[in-house]
Amino acid sequence: MKVLIATEKPFAPVAVDGIRQVLEQAGHKVALLEKGSHDDLVAAVHDVTGLIVRSDKVTKDVFDAAPLLKVVVRAGAGYDNIDLDEATAHGVCVMNTPGQNANAVAELVMGMLVTLVRNRYDGTSGTELLGKTLGIHAYGAVGRNVARIAKGFGMKVSALDPFVADEVMEADGIQPVHSVEQLYADNQIVSLHIPANDQTRRSVTERLLTSMPKGAILVNAARKEVIDEPGLQAAMAARSDLRYIADVKPDIADELQQLYPARVLFTPKKMGAQTAEANINAGLAAARQIVDHLATGWNRFQVNK
Ligand code: 3PG
Repeated sequence: MKVLIATEKPFAPVAVDGIRQVLEQAGHKVALLEKGSHDDLVAAVHDVTGLIVRSDKVTKDVFDAAPLLKVVVRAGAGYDNIDLDEATAHGVCVMNTPGQNANAVAELVMGMLVTLVRNRYDGTSGTELLGKTLGIHAYGAVGRNVARIAKGFGMKVSALDPFVADEVMEADGIQPVHSVEQLYADNQIVSLHIPANDQTRRSVTERLLTSMPKGAILVNAARKEVIDEPGLQAAMAARSDLRYIADVKPDIADELQQLYPARVLFTPKKMGAQTAEANINAGLAAARQIVDHLATGWNRFQVNK
């Protein structure tokens, strides 16, 4: 059977080699579409049974164009780029590869934080992370890695996650928090790790942002959709001490950069998961999951039920 690796943002070559090996050893043919457009993806799926993507949009037109498609694996965590209802309607199993790129994202969060608090290494005196309070908004795989590294910096870490028991956080030395209001009001830095879904879209509001302590920083390595952008803009205007870091640039990035160049830091393109290690971990997991699914129906990480 044919499996297409379709990544607008390519994996490291070493990861592509590994993915190819896993699939070919199981007897599958491999096709590679890198840096392609959405139309290229639609055109490439007519004869594929398996599909590996990253943030590439897998929408109705893709499913309609892929009559043989049985399984899509999002090599990564968030699957908001995949139309799950259409997948189900077309009888396609969708899986993600939870946790596989989490450390890479967490390291980027800490790196961007250091860059901002050191004033981009411009020669002026910045500040340190030691002793600062950090609130982790969602204690999943990325949040846990951020917490682990932040503790190494000597930060005081707390976390909000209604799906994680207090004992789990406490065992990690993390203070559990039970309301979003408290998380933002009590922490100098908040790092966002919530998925984008109907419950979370535009849920980080002006009210939450302006409740943060003086000199606060919000870090978003999750999804731009979880921020209420007009609220962010209003909060940045109202609070000259507020700073915003994002690996997922807001639509208003240019405006913010122009108005507050020292108070925002954005990557040019989402880079959190872009390490050789994360590409290998997530890519190989995706390849193995496809092999297992096609051989036995294995579907442990299925996200469309
Ligand atoms: C994820 O959801 O796994 C991350 O946002 C990484 O996305 P990417 O594979 O597009 O870099």
